[in-house]
Amino acid sequence: MSKVTVVGAGNVGATVANVLAHQDLVREIVLVDIKEDFAKGKALDTCQQAPIDYYSTKMIGTKDYRKTKNSDIVVITAGIPRRPGMSRDDLISTNAKIVASVTSSILKYSKNPIIIIVSNPLDVMTYAAHKVSKLNPKRVFGMAGILDTARYRCFLSEKLNVSPKDIQAVLMGGHGDTMVPLPRYTTVAGIPVTELIEKADLNAIVERTKKGGGELVKLMGTSAWYAPGAAAAQMVGAILRDEQRIFPCCAMLSGQYGLKNIFLGVPVKLGKNGIEEIIELKLNKSEMKLLHKSADHVKKVITVFNKMKVV
Ligand code: NAI
Ligand code: 2OP
Repeated sequence: MSKVTVVGAGNVGATVANVLAHQDLVREIVLVDIKEDFAKGKALDTCQQAPIDYYSTKMIGTKDYRKTKNSDIVVITAGIPRRPGMSRDDLISTNAKIVASVTSSILKYSKNPIIIIVSNPLDVMTYAAHKVSKLNPKRVFGMAGILDTARYRCFLSEKLNVSPKDIQAVLMGGHGDTMVPLPRYTTVAGIPVTELIEKADLNAIVERTKKGGGELVKLMGTSAWYAPGAAAAQMVGAILRDEQRIFPCCAMLSGQYGLKNIFLGVPVKLGKNGIEEIIELKLNKSEMKLLHKSADHVKKVITVFNKMKVV
């Protein structure tokens, strides 16, 4: 059984920890937050849910990184979320410093953890955590693609009136409005989605997906947490069970898709070593163009981060 640390006990972090606790897969979850009592409260609440929902996972809340010692996996959700009118990129000035300091605190007590970043702007915060940790990039990656693909799958299931379970899809690129849903790689129980839906309806769903995060921010005044938390927990589960599952994740590219020195959403295989493989799809010209446009956007934000000289 393993030890998992989740940094940030807010909406997303507490959800990741709670979903994971239910899976009875982890011996201990350490929930870290600068608001220590808040972290302790969320952990205690989850412990009190255990006799009802029937799991044995232990959870503690703390601000003391010594308690994170020898974590196998660390999920970083610390930082501020979007408010209405903000883009994910607007968060960089605050979150870059938080993610950098959290990463170095973690590394003091865990020598070779797998680190999953959730904090936004996601692709650049993953780049930052890798730069600070200097870990093998197979062990530092970000959660966004599972969430964005889930939104796309959800909208398709509503439109087609089929179970979301039967919708399989791939989505690539940065976690922002330039993300690239791929209808050519979308199926409904094995049937190409293009055989089941009008082009205009599919295009509308692609556009809604790209702005899916903003839709929730507008509704709630802050960003989403149930689907993001479940998505990060799904990545942890795939690693701990060594499932070799294929998910879109934010990974460091070193030549794949003609891109390097960038963290970007691509399909990867997740197993006990983290990213076991980056899968290179045979994208057509227009898909590749959209992916590179998204990469150009992420590169601009990386430049902003590098100028901040946080690392
Ligand atoms: P939240 O405000 O509910 O929680 C953030 C927590 O981080 C707070 O409890 C805060 O005290 C804590 N924190 C701040 N600085 C810290 C530090 N130095 N060390 C430890 N804890 C610290 O925010 P929420 O909704 O949980 O979102 C967290 C982040 O995740 C945001 O940046 C948000 O944009 C991002 N996000 C990313 C998604 C993705 O798909 N990658 C999806 C949803 C949110
Ligand atoms: C989301 O997509 C804001 O990144 C967050 O919900």
